[in-house]
Amino acid sequence: PSSISIKELSELLGIKVNDILKFLLSHGISSNINSNVDFETATMIGAKYNIEVILEEQQDIESIYLTEEPDREDQMEPRPPIVTVMGHVDHGKTTLLDAIRKTNVTSSEAGGITQHIGAYTVELNNRKIVFIDTPGHEAFTAMRARGAQITDIVILVVAADDGVMPQTIEAINHAKAANVPIIVAVNKIDKPNANAERVKQELSEYGLIPEEWGGDTIFVPVSALRKQGINELLEMILLLSDLLELKANPNKRASGVVIESRLDKGMGSVATVLVQSGTLKVGDIVISGTSFGRVRALIDDKGRRVKKATPSIPVSVLGLSEVPNVGDKFYVVPDEKIAKAISDYRKDRLRQQQYNNINKLSFDQLFNQI
Ligand code: GTP
Ligand code: MG
Repeated sequence: PSSISIKELSELLGIKVNDILKFLLSHGISSNINSNVDFETATMIGAKYNIEVILEEQQDIESIYLTEEPDREDQMEPRPPIVTVMGHVDHGKTTLLDAIRKTNVTSSEAGGITQHIGAYTVELNNRKIVFIDTPGHEAFTAMRARGAQITDIVILVVAADDGVMPQTIEAINHAKAANVPIIVAVNKIDKPNANAERVKQELSEYGLIPEEWGGDTIFVPVSALRKQGINELLEMILLLSDLLELKANPNKRASGVVIESRLDKGMGSVATVLVQSGTLKVGDIVISGTSFGRVRALIDDKGRRVKKATPSIPVSVLGLSEVPNVGDKFYVVPDEKIAKAISDYRKDRLRQQQYNNINKLSFDQLFNQI
């Protein structure tokens, strides 16, 4: 990454170009005035003349191009809430999402890659809500690990016949850690052994106290299977998101998070992203980790090709060079050269880290042997 031409080095150190070339030749390196030497070699050359060579701090390419300017209040526009459905295994998260989508998504049926997208856009009273189904989603863990505030609201699904279980508690802790408000969906109320009161009691031990008991947690009894209570739940989500006043600036280059990614035989790298800021468009240059490329196509959660995606909206991106990592941020940059430069910079850094790890490892091994 850090190299300098012999001409430049000669000027900086005040050593004749010929002397440098001779010195290098004496070390078996044949070069010319335009050859580049790396930092180590430059240090060696300097040492011969008692000059200490110090690497100048460079402003790294990431901070130049990927630093997001804070938005002004007048640039902010309302955006749909991102709602993540969490809860214990088999408590009915996916069934609940199915019920929500069937009652609200118009007949344009899912096809192609839609089935694999874990994020869904639902329309209600001309307003959008974005849902994320968590089961088995590494995505969510990775995002949390980075402290990314991708979710605005957590729907905690608790089966009324089963009550609070280990993953229910885990979900509460994740939501608390991320400082995200929880709406409780008490599910399976159609079951004869359902006990919604017990769920309320158990959850209040974890600080989720229902409004009728003087707390501030919204509980909605539902039956995902019988599609009961679904509209009430959606109303509560909209009510809560009104209070949150969710906004973003749609009029700038997009950035967001990769929530799913895979390699498709026909389409190549397919990355499902959630736009958090700005508007993502076909033709944009995207970088995520070391993967980059021009957006060839955008596909929404219903399998339709779209030209753009505004804040909160999940879309699949085609055209990236590699499959990006789930949980990584993505950014639109002005041109492909910059994207490649950032990618190269990151690849170098990764190599350096791996190299350091190997060195550290051998040192530790040595140390342990002694
Ligand atoms: P994981 O993704 O594995 O964590 O499970 P999940 O929470 O998504 O549960 P899922 O929606 O797959 O439902 C599990 C089982 O519960 C299925 O057999 C559903 O039919 C059933 N189920 C879900 N909701 C209800 C409900 O409201 N009433 C009844 N009686 N059964 C339900
Ligand atoms: Mg599920």
